[in-house]
Amino acid sequence: MSPTYEIKDVRIIYFSGSGGTERIAKAFEKELTDRGIEVIVKNLGAPLKERMEAHAEQDLLVADLNILIFAVHAADAPKPVYDWIRSTGCAEAGRKIAVISVSGGGDMWPNKGSRNHCIKTLEEKGFEVTYDRMMCMPSNVFIEYNDHLIMRLLNTIPGKVSLITDDLLKGKILRSHFKKGAILNRISESEQKNAGKFARKIRITDACTTCGWCERNCPTSNIKISEITARPEFSDRCVICTRCIYGCPARALRYDGAIILKNGFDLNAVERRMAGVEPDQMEKCCRGLLYKGVKKYLSEKSQ
Ligand SMILES: Cc1cc2nc3c(=O)[nH]c(=O)nc-3n(C[C@H](O)[C@H](O)[C@H](O)COP(=O)(O)O)c2cc1C
Repeated sequence: MSPTYEIKDVRIIYFSGSGGTERIAKAFEKELTDRGIEVIVKNLGAPLKERMEAHAEQDLLVADLNILIFAVHAADAPKPVYDWIRSTGCAEAGRKIAVISVSGGGDMWPNKGSRNHCIKTLEEKGFEVTYDRMMCMPSNVFIEYNDHLIMRLLNTIPGKVSLITDDLLKGKILRSHFKKGAILNRISESEQKNAGKFARKIRITDACTTCGWCERNCPTSNIKISEITARPEFSDRCVICTRCIYGCPARALRYDGAIILKNGFDLNAVERRMAGVEPDQMEKCCRGLLYKGVKKYLSEKSQ
């Protein structure tokens, strides 16, 4: 397909809680930069102070194309993505936008609906959504992926990103038209409505060193180290990004519920453990119905 418009600069806007989506955003940044495209990256999950400092530069570029990338939360985009859409000015942002959702389970129901509401909100704001699709990363909730599967997913990033970049730079139009339906909409709405209360149930164990990492890294400035108890205190702006729990250097924050993985979520640690190890074949590390979407994703052409 011949290009319908030339892309010289791109703005990547992303939200990542525990770092999986961030790897994909960084892979796009590298791929585009290697191809001579000017890239500006806006991290919607950066700590507030960092976001404020970077704001001017990130919004200066009127990009030929925006790429919005977010971690799927309850078959939808996390709240900071909507906050950005509502606050951004169309003209400053440039109109064309590609939307990429990053899920643990792949392009299956209910994840197929993860871009619906976000795309509708973008269109209401005046954006032209030209492309949308799903990428897959290790799940950071409920189901702990084994190291071999995690490595297969990480290894597949450059190939997938390169193919999508080809599409985007060619100006390919790719739109999914899955309709979410009332039940799924209600589940997503309920998650967004109740997310704020999640952090109130986080237990702070004696391992807490009061280092303040959680306070500094919370994307919604929801955590304050109390001047009285010297312990983290949580307000109601939690978006269940999981960063404080998985990222705490002392692993001092605990949540007593199946949603949080008991052994944590640390992609760097998996890479260290698997250094020099050839990951198992997909059939071996990706068994069972639960992995159907992941298997499909890994089987698609990507290199
Ligand atoms: C609150 C919450 C809800 C999630 N909901 C879904 C979901 O509906 N479907 C899915 O496949 N993965 C779901 N996930 C998993 C993440 O989408 C997936 O692990 C993603 O790669 C995490 O990206 P991150 O590391 O950038 O935060 C959810 C994760 C969280 C924290």
